[in-house]
Amino acid sequence: MSDRYLNFANTPAGRRLVGALGLPAPLPLERWVAGRNRPLEGALLIGGDGELGAAVAGFANRLTDEHFAARDDQYGLPRWTAEHGPKLKGLVFDASGLSRFEELDALRQFFQPALKNLGRCPHVVVLGRAPDTLSDPQASSVQRALEGFTRSLGKEIRRGGTVQLLHVVDPGAETGLEGALRFLLSPKSAYVSAQVLRLQPCAQQVSDWTRPLAGKTALVTGASRGIGAAIAETLARDGAEVLLLDVPQAKDALDALASRLGGRSLALDICADDAPAKLVEALPEGVDIIVHNAGITRDKTLAKMSEGLWESVIDVNLRAPQQLTEALLQAGALRDNGRVVLIASLSGIAGNVGQTNYATSKAGLIGLAQSWAPTLAERGISINAVAPGFIETGMTAAIPFTIREAGRRMNSMNQGGLPQDVAEAVAWFAQPGSGAVTGQVLRVCGQSLLGA
Ligand SMILES: NC(=O)c1ccc[n+]([C@@H]2O[C@H](COP(=O)([O-])OP(=O)(O)OC[C@H]3O[C@@H](n4cnc5c(N)ncnc54)[C@H](O)[C@@H]3O)[C@@H](O)[C@H]2O)c1
Repeated sequence: MSDRYLNFANTPAGRRLVGALGLPAPLPLERWVAGRNRPLEGALLIGGDGELGAAVAGFANRLTDEHFAARDDQYGLPRWTAEHGPKLKGLVFDASGLSRFEELDALRQFFQPALKNLGRCPHVVVLGRAPDTLSDPQASSVQRALEGFTRSLGKEIRRGGTVQLLHVVDPGAETGLEGALRFLLSPKSAYVSAQVLRLQPCAQQVSDWTRPLAGKTALVTGASRGIGAAIAETLARDGAEVLLLDVPQAKDALDALASRLGGRSLALDICADDAPAKLVEALPEGVDIIVHNAGITRDKTLAKMSEGLWESVIDVNLRAPQQLTEALLQAGALRDNGRVVLIASLSGIAGNVGQTNYATSKAGLIGLAQSWAPTLAERGISINAVAPGFIETGMTAAIPFTIREAGRRMNSMNQGGLPQDVAEAVAWFAQPGSGAVTGQVLRVCGQSLLGA
């Protein structure tokens, strides 16, 4: 569904009116376009003191042609100055070496000149250490403080910008930095902001960045339309062979998409008694990537919620993903170094009126990711949840106008996300090197005010 307000606010007359009335002024966000090679098109500035900044400088030429350091003689890169530009598209600040409260001012010193010289839709990443891995209380507190800083900067940056905090577990997790920054500094993370992620060591690496999923087989449930269809397209774009699953009623759309993507289709209700067996049968060679995207809403306040409405949502959204994953694991069909992604929801984090059933199911998915992660890690398998906020799909088009408008604007981007935004996050989690991230929740919500 098109966002008419966003379109109007970006016309000359709209810009004047929106400015005069102090209304939200959403900018069209830059998105990844198939065929693009470089994660960043524009200048990248690296700053801070620590080994992680040096590690980023080591592969910066693979991210963009224009890379700079904040100081002379740093990282062997030319120095960027506010006076001479160029405008900045990406900022990486290594805060991992900060351990005393007085050192936190380094953040202000680095970001202040840079913020006045940002290009459109800039991406910012602060690198830190996981506070719970540090024994010194002040050092741990300083690292925790970075979370407040990045979340606030996410609200201040505007211009369609994003800000994330990446905790890099020491030692060995730096090898995952390139994969993470290729996502977090590029338009692939257009609608992801104010997220805190933890990178752990991972032995797997992407060998060809133009087709990071080449040689992998991916299953996507609920793939005939909306977010599921976008996930299927994106995984296929990145080189995966896709098996698309949806209910028998959606068979025509499913078959059409599968044949366009050179994949296979499976018309199956994931709640059917024989669904686990049928799925195992459809994957005789096994599967590397499982995306549990199929989901339903059956909204009613709890006072009016029937058993049927409650059970149907728990069955589709929570029980089926658990049972299908279990069946694939038991049959040995989920390969070593596999990637499981569960599509949760902001409702599962913030709660929502009329969605006790839905929020319960989605919070349960987050619980599944967290509880399964340690066991699956023994086989190099990662499992994560992606929690979309307001995404422009048939599901959100059905929401009454005023609630829909509130949902769209109540985030730092002042707009809804697109199915592609969720799909890009899934595709990043699906990469071989993304075994560095497991048991975590990534919100794709434009830094929604809800549940923040
Ligand atoms: N659209 C949003 O803003 C939003 C926000 C947060 C979370 N989500 C989640 O993202 C996922 C996709 O949402 P969407 O907006 O694309 O919804 P959608 O309704 O357009 O698509 C859901 C798909 O799941 C399929 N499905 C439902 N029950 C099934 C079953 N029993 N077996 C097999 N397939 C089944 C449907 O046929 C449909 O193709 C859902 O899990 C949803 O809860 C969406």
